[in-house]
Amino acid sequence: MFNTMTITKASGALIGALLALLLLFWAGSSLYYVGPTGGHEGEEIAQAYTIPVEESAGGGEAAAEEQIDFGALMAAADPAKGEKVFGKCKACHKLDGTDGTGPHLNGVVGRAVASVAGFNYDDAMKEHAAEAPNWTPEALQEFLTSPKTVVPGTKMSFAGLPKAEDRANLIAYLETQN
Ligand code: HEC
Repeated sequence: MFNTMTITKASGALIGALLALLLLFWAGSSLYYVGPTGGHEGEEIAQAYTIPVEESAGGGEAAAEEQIDFGALMAAADPAKGEKVFGKCKACHKLDGTDGTGPHLNGVVGRAVASVAGFNYDDAMKEHAAEAPNWTPEALQEFLTSPKTVVPGTKMSFAGLPKAEDRANLIAYLETQN
């Protein structure tokens, strides 16, 4: 009854079934991965969310940096180095009294928040003026650490200056620009 032919047929059927099963698994898993591919966009969305996460991580660092004695940093600040840091602001801010994407920054140290006449400030910045009316060195250094954390919704698209030295040098430079 179990002659070679039967065994061959049987094992052939078995192997065939196994192959079919393998194919099913393969198809199944490729189908399964279609989800994550669709979800790949999801990953990209997740990446978009990574930015605020990084920012809040930066904010965390900023919080840690607030332990630094900013007064001492200001005392040791170098306006010449600050002028280089200002290179990061130049795309939007001028120091010749004219406004660009952002308001001019002449005399900004000690200036009233959102006070440049004719500049169309965001509501967020106008609201900030109610809470913190002046750009004191302290207020500036806090704002420049992470603008969007200090003034949520501001239209100033700038990630911030993570280094306290950079902020101190920059503020020292801005103090010379009236
Ligand atoms: C991509 C453009 C851009 C860059 C880069 C940028 N800013 Fe701004 N900044 C703006 C805009 C726009 C506003 C107005 C914000 C609002 O109304 O919400 C602003 C507002 C400000 C204000 C408030 C001014 C006021 O009159 O109340 C200060 C201070 C400031 N920026 C400093 C800086 C400094 C310092 C840098 C560089 C480290 C910098 N910004 C980089 C666009 C920019």
